Amino acid sequence: MKKILIINGPNLNLLGKREDHIYGKETLEEIETKCKEKASEKNLNLVFYQSNDEGKLIDKMHEVEESYDGVIINPAAFTHSSIAILDCLRSISKPKIEIHLSNIYAREDYRKKSITSEGVDGLICGLGANSYILGIEAISKLIYS
Ligand code: DQA
Repeated sequence: MKKILIINGPNLNLLGKREDHIYGKETLEEIETKCKEKASEKNLNLVFYQSNDEGKLIDKMHEVEESYDGVIINPAAFTHSSIAILDCLRSISKPKIEIHLSNIYAREDYRKKSITSEGVDGLICGLGANSYILGIEAISKLIYS
C-alpha cells in the first residue's frame, strides 16, 4: 500500500477553538479521522502530523523521500514566511500538495503570498476541512496515475 504524510503547521492544534468563523468548528482530531477514512478508501496509508515548531516540521518532511509516496502540507502561518519549508519541499521528488482551510487570497494582504506553494505540485484552499479531503483525492491521482 502507498503511504502519505499530512503535515500541519503552527496553531492548527487549536482548531475548533481558534477563530472558528474562519477555520470552522471541527477539531484537528476530527479532521484526522475523516482524512484516515478517505485515505483508506483511496488505498493510502496515512500518517498525520502536527507541530508548532518549524524545525520539527522540516525533520518530519525529511522522512518523505525515503519512507512516503507523497506529502500534503498545511504550513499555516509558515506559508507566508518560511523559505526553509520551501527549500525542504523543493528537496522532495514525490507528489506534494499544499492545502489551507481558508481562502488565503481573500484575506489580509500578508496572507495573499504563499512562499511554500512555489515548492508543491498544486494548491487547494478555501474549502474548510474539505480542502484536506480534496488534497487526498488529488495526491491519490498523482500517486496512482
Ligand atoms: C491557514 C491560513 C494561514 O494564513 C494561517 O496562518 C493559518 C491557517 C489555513 O488553513 O487557512 O494558520 O493555513
